[in-house]
Amino acid sequence: MIEVTDLTKNYTTGPVVTKVLQGINLFVPSGEFLSIMGKSGAGKSTLLYQMSLLDLPSSGRIIIDGVNTADFSDKARMNFRLNRLGYVFQDYALLPELSAVENVIVPLLMQGLNKVDAYARSIEALDAVGLAHRHDNRPSQLSGGEQQRVSISRAIAQKPDILFADEPTANLDSTSGQAVIEVMNKLHAERGQTIVMVTHELEYAREADRIIYLEDGQISGEEKQSAANH
Ligand SMILES: Nc1ncnc2c1ncn2[C@@H]1O[C@H](COP(=O)(O)OP(=O)(O)O)[C@@H](O)[C@H]1O
Ligand SMILES: [Mg+2]
Repeated sequence: MIEVTDLTKNYTTGPVVTKVLQGINLFVPSGEFLSIMGKSGAGKSTLLYQMSLLDLPSSGRIIIDGVNTADFSDKARMNFRLNRLGYVFQDYALLPELSAVENVIVPLLMQGLNKVDAYARSIEALDAVGLAHRHDNRPSQLSGGEQQRVSISRAIAQKPDILFADEPTANLDSTSGQAVIEVMNKLHAERGQTIVMVTHELEYAREADRIIYLEDGQISGEEKQSAANH
């Protein structure tokens, strides 16, 4: 579970300080599928960066599974992120010269897994997102939706406690976007995967258990989805 308390984030560029997050309080229980919605510039990506430990807050607390992440050294932070958090970027962030399976293997090897286990886990993760027939293709040989599903398999291959996704459907047509959301739904339904997903498409946000709305760096509203919607 994630507990965010009084979180603020400012960016300083020369003499200019931009206040982006202005006191976020948020609790994400284990197993929840949470959507974050809000206009462009509202601070959604910034919030996801702080929660996934890709960046450090200006003030406030982020506790993940009882661990105060402010206590981490840089190395401990990186290891925690590598071992326990998965992140899916809007633009997939795949290595173009590597095949799908190689893209998924790289972080597993970085974690210290041996090659045989890393390969087996990568195959399993690709199969789980419906890419059993695409193991050896490079990103340029895959559609946008398939590339995003490779990126999701890379994020889930190490079985993260929390999967973060920043507008994973933003660059996709509606059929591919739907396929990506179905993968999220399946991970949540079958594995109880905790997911925090930023999107600005209400149709996709509604697939989650709960939606929070971000406006000018503050949470301006919240909506729980009834079980009937799922
Ligand atoms: N590294 C940065 N340096 C300075 N300003 C930034 C930086 N990253 C984001 N911002 C600013 O913070 C605000 C929120 O950005 P962001 O979190 O990307 O919003 P969203 O994802 O909701 O569109 C924007 O005004 C953006 O220009
Ligand atoms: Mg963003």
